[in-house]
Amino acid sequence: MDRLTGKIAIVTGAAGGLGYAGVRAMAAEGARVVMMDLSPAVHDRAEELAEEGFDVTAHVGDVSSESDMAGVVARAKETYGGLHVLWNNAGLVSAEWINQDTDVVGVSRDFLMRTIEVNTVSVFLGSKYAVPAMAETGGGSIINTSSVQAAGGDLALVAYGTSKAAVNYLTKSVATSFGHLGIRSNALAPGLIPTPAVRQAAAGSHQLEAVAPLQLLLDSQMLSSVGEQADVANTVVFLASDESKFITGQLIYVDGGTTGHLPTLSDRRKQAVT
Ligand SMILES: NC(=O)c1ccc[n+]([C@@H]2O[C@H](COP(=O)([O-])OP(=O)(O)OC[C@H]3O[C@@H](n4cnc5c(N)ncnc54)[C@H](O)[C@@H]3O)[C@@H](O)[C@H]2O)c1
Repeated sequence: MDRLTGKIAIVTGAAGGLGYAGVRAMAAEGARVVMMDLSPAVHDRAEELAEEGFDVTAHVGDVSSESDMAGVVARAKETYGGLHVLWNNAGLVSAEWINQDTDVVGVSRDFLMRTIEVNTVSVFLGSKYAVPAMAETGGGSIINTSSVQAAGGDLALVAYGTSKAAVNYLTKSVATSFGHLGIRSNALAPGLIPTPAVRQAAAGSHQLEAVAPLQLLLDSQMLSSVGEQADVANTVVFLASDESKFITGQLIYVDGGTTGHLPTLSDRRKQAVT
């Protein structure tokens, strides 16, 4: 119940599925959290948590904007007096976006750049402004949401995969440059976690239907259970807490084993385990 007592955190994409679940888990462990999202719905989500007795603050802003990312760090310092944890989690998850995200021939330059702005530049800016704030408080933990989609090539999602692969590098760069200040930087890479946004995207996306039907993703896991938002939230709490104080520069897959094996026919794997 108090693994994060005394910690001040910022979570981006906090109105969404994984972000909200993570904020709730962090607040339940005693963290005070600034919840940032582009969607004004973040106010309602923060009110829900405040009614449960959690100390959270809603902040509307765009993670791809330098002034907004500087602003949310300033908000954490003004509201709570410092910063220990930043979870860069906001990302573009929708059928509309996924349907456009094909391959290098099909994707426009503007689409690629906007995807990178939201998914990657956000991590760059968040780290840029969090590092000095964390240095003032004696160190901290930056956590970035990557994706299994950056682990290998695919027939589609070139912009998304590129944006998340760059997140993996930024994670290691920040860890390397600022470890001496007590600042850690790790990424977590979820596999399929059917958040409301992912369910909607899957239902409305001809891309996912064509190249990555949900059943195929499930069949690629080592574990037969479906990933839950709590699986990511638990990992975030661990990476935010001092329990992970000797872990930095790492990419942690929260994917039921999707990326941990060589290509295997799912039917053959099923035969092997039954
Ligand atoms: N759910 C999965 O299966 C899965 C798998 C791998 C990676 N991820 C990553 O996890 C993160 C969260 O995914 P989710 O499934 O919870 O999706 P979600 O859509 O529920 O959450 C994303 C949130 O980010 C916010 N956002 C989008 N653009 C923004 C911007 N410019 N500024 C501020 N906020 C912005 C959205 O409003 C939304 O609330 C994303 O980075 C996604 O790429 C998800």
